[in-house]
Amino acid sequence: MIHIGTVPKNPDLSSIRIIADFVKKLGPEDYMILKTLASALTHRQSLTKQQIVNYSKLHEDIVDFRLRALRNSNLVSKHDHDFAILRAGLDTMVLKLLADKNVVGGIGKPIGLGKESDVYEAMKDEMKLAVKFYRIGRISFRGTTKKRSFSFRQEDNSHHWLLVSMNGAKKEVEILQRLMKSGVSVPKPLYRAMHCVVMKRINGIPLANLLNVNDPPVLFNEIMRNVRMAYKNNIIHSDLSEYNILIGQSGEPHIIDWPQAVSTNHPNAKLLITRDVVNIVNYFNRKFHLAQTVADGMELVLNS
Ligand SMILES: Nc1ncnc2c1ncn2[C@@H]1O[C@H](COP(=O)(O)OP(=O)(O)O)[C@@H](O)[C@H]1O
Ligand SMILES: [Mg+2]
Repeated sequence: MIHIGTVPKNPDLSSIRIIADFVKKLGPEDYMILKTLASALTHRQSLTKQQIVNYSKLHEDIVDFRLRALRNSNLVSKHDHDFAILRAGLDTMVLKLLADKNVVGGIGKPIGLGKESDVYEAMKDEMKLAVKFYRIGRISFRGTTKKRSFSFRQEDNSHHWLLVSMNGAKKEVEILQRLMKSGVSVPKPLYRAMHCVVMKRINGIPLANLLNVNDPPVLFNEIMRNVRMAYKNNIIHSDLSEYNILIGQSGEPHIIDWPQAVSTNHPNAKLLITRDVVNIVNYFNRKFHLAQTVADGMELVLNS
């Protein structure tokens, strides 16, 4: 019996590194089945075995055999007669795709494991990359002891959340491309595959982790200038905070994490841009003892 290993059900253990090992053991038929199920996912569908046979053009016996192994490995689920790809299955498929297309040379250490994404460092030739896997809607067990009445796997792997993550990835790439064109300091997106975005890695530290900066008023103005450029291009970040601003080697800010951005035509646009400005004003006043007012900040963003 083929056995390609098993992804642990515990989400914190099913890290990309485990998945990366997995990819090496994946046969071409396994990959074909995962790809078939992943493309069904984008149409909100699960597939019967017969559909998998039809779409993948693999022999029925092979599909049968491989599906059993993929299910044993927690890459694919079965409900009644329907098969669906699980989160670990989608991760596996994407990692293989990134390797096959030579987008990344290999996945390195985690650089940001958050509630909404897992970000890993990677290299491609000499270029430093950040690989962001979206986990939108994941129930975070990190730092919470709250008991839930449903099981993790059910919730984490539901089609709905995988699709939301894919759409988040798609949206962030589109927004980053637009922002880059208008001169906003953001990481350059290089490639998207399903729920994963590969971008240039910023050699920087989150503003939240810096004890002091060279010239706080200059940095404040520079952040506001970037927020303004985005705003002039009809984009409001909507989750701006000291955690989503990385400070580079020359002290320059880079604004990251845009999947929840909204347009300036959004019904709550005024509220959201004000909240972004308030977050930064409050942070600078608290941490660096500035005396900025929200009105000053809004003036810089809207009217300067
Ligand atoms: N392009 C990048 N370069 C360097 N580090 C990054 C990059 N993108 C994300 N990170 C790191 O990963 C963390 C999480 O990424 P982020 O886009 O903010 O997603 P989340 O929604 O999980 O907060 C960030 O706080 C940052 O430390
Ligand atoms: Mg973030």
